[in-house]
Amino acid sequence: MSLLDAARQVRENAHAPYSNFKVGAAIRVESGAVYTGCNVENLAYPQGTCAEAGAIAAMCAAGDYRIAEVAVIADAPDPVPPCGGCRQKLMEFASPEVRVTMATTDGATRTVTLGELLPGAFTPDHMSRT
Ligand code: THU
Repeated sequence: MSLLDAARQVRENAHAPYSNFKVGAAIRVESGAVYTGCNVENLAYPQGTCAEAGAIAAMCAAGDYRIAEVAVIADAPDPVPPCGGCRQKLMEFASPEVRVTMATTDGATRTVTLGELLPGAFTPDHMSRT
């Protein structure tokens, strides 16, 4: 199964009764393993989590920490990019060269690098004077 198909499949399990906007995300790590996540909303709206965060949590829970590729899909007019917070979350485990494919359920896709999505990222270098 392609990474995008994995994202498409997990999107079906999203819990999005408040926005009615289901999102699926899939992460491939360097070993080839794939981790998926969907958005999980909550009646207390700020407690909801994004699909990308779910996939990252699954990855870490399995003991993997280096992202090789990302796919995100939603039912939208144009491919939906990860939100700002998720860009930072992805950058924690990925290099700026990692490819992020965004897709619509209609079949449109757009692929960019994480560095293009998050230029000027906050990195460990910013916390070191040495
Ligand atoms: N959402 C994601 O899951 N990922 C994104 O990158 C964009 C937004 C979710 C959060 C919320 O459940 C719904 O989409 C509407 O914002």
